[in-house]
Amino acid sequence: MRVLLVSLLLCTLALGCRAWRRRDSESDSSNCGCLNNGVCISYKYYNINRCSCPANFIGEHCETDSSQKCYEGNGHSYRGIANQDIWGKICLKWNSALLLTEKYNANRPDALQLGLGKHNYCRNPDNQRRPWCFVQIGRKQYMRECKVPQCPTEKEGFQCGQKSMTPRFKIVGGNRTPIENQPWFAAIYRSHLGGSPSFTCGGALISSCWVVSAAHCFSGKLKKGERYFLYLGQSKRNSETLGEIRFEIEELILHENFSTGTIAYHNDIALLKIRSRTGKCAEPSRTVQTICLPPAYGDIPIGGECEVTGFGLEEQNDYLYPEYLKMAVVKPISYRECQQPHYYGSEITSQMVCAAHPEWTSDACQGDSGGPLVCPIDGRMALVGVVSWGLGCAEKNKPGVYARVSHFLPWIRTHTGPI
Ligand code: ARG
Repeated sequence: MRVLLVSLLLCTLALGCRAWRRRDSESDSSNCGCLNNGVCISYKYYNINRCSCPANFIGEHCETDSSQKCYEGNGHSYRGIANQDIWGKICLKWNSALLLTEKYNANRPDALQLGLGKHNYCRNPDNQRRPWCFVQIGRKQYMRECKVPQCPTEKEGFQCGQKSMTPRFKIVGGNRTPIENQPWFAAIYRSHLGGSPSFTCGGALISSCWVVSAAHCFSGKLKKGERYFLYLGQSKRNSETLGEIRFEIEELILHENFSTGTIAYHNDIALLKIRSRTGKCAEPSRTVQTICLPPAYGDIPIGGECEVTGFGLEEQNDYLYPEYLKMAVVKPISYRECQQPHYYGSEITSQMVCAAHPEWTSDACQGDSGGPLVCPIDGRMALVGVVSWGLGCAEKNKPGVYARVSHFLPWIRTHTGPI
């Protein structure tokens, strides 16, 4: 700035400044790099150019579109002004001195092209899953996915994590829930030769052909001719009249490192590839929807209002499963808290999520295994956990324990391909 003023002064005094004018006219023709129909305004004798931007566009080159409220595709072309990570932490500016050693910052020669600049808006310069930014945690900078929704696509398809119905009242404690409120819920059964099928476990639809469940649900040996099958869209157990759709299990994949500890299950996760009798995978409807996967290795949404769903026991000592699908609101608990000696001590690993009701009044129970623990992340519901184990049900200091889905995404994707 100081240099500019001095030069301007000299220039005015010398009353000529031809060289400067020439440079001005050159940059005129190159439109001073204004994007999005910005108009280049040059103040000739001061050697200053600036872009005058159309409504909603901001930034030195009108490169930012403040009206963009969602991103298309993976968000590579997103130029909106969201500037928080999924947990609400404010992003660092791309020109922050803290990011000088990062590969992506405002100093790259192609920064403008990639949408990076003197701002802290979320961008996806490297074609990740969605727009992201750097946030400062302690003394370190971390890349974090951003709190910005994907634009709804025109074509009919699954809209993961979207309910076709929200209950009019808040459900606290276990309560009946129509499947429309948990349309990703899968009811898994085991057929018996000659007898009626037995309810086995819950599951969650993550893409049209794949359901996630718990590995321990499938550790028992099937007798010859017996097999597993599942229903989507089922609000009432053993019902085959309300529009539920039956799927056969084309492939059953248990985690290779699934094991049983003293009380814990480790790597308690399974994938089921489904196929209807007409050979198709699932299709979206009011009662069938996918659940979003959480961000890879994301933090546990501690204290968030999450929901667990299943046909599991209503009381630990019951012996009959309920007829109607039930749901409870529980809150994830930190790894630290759950590892306390009077909770579960060292049985808890970082591959698990603990969740409970603050007053210990509701919980998953026997029969809920494999079912989804879903939490709102970024305005949609995501599969944070898979019901795995717990001591008793809704016992004080004994939370429900879930397989931590965010830590199994690579495993899931090696089997399902990109979701
Ligand atoms: N292992 C149980 C099942 O097979 C799930 C237990 C969940 N218990 C709990 N207290 N959250 O269904």
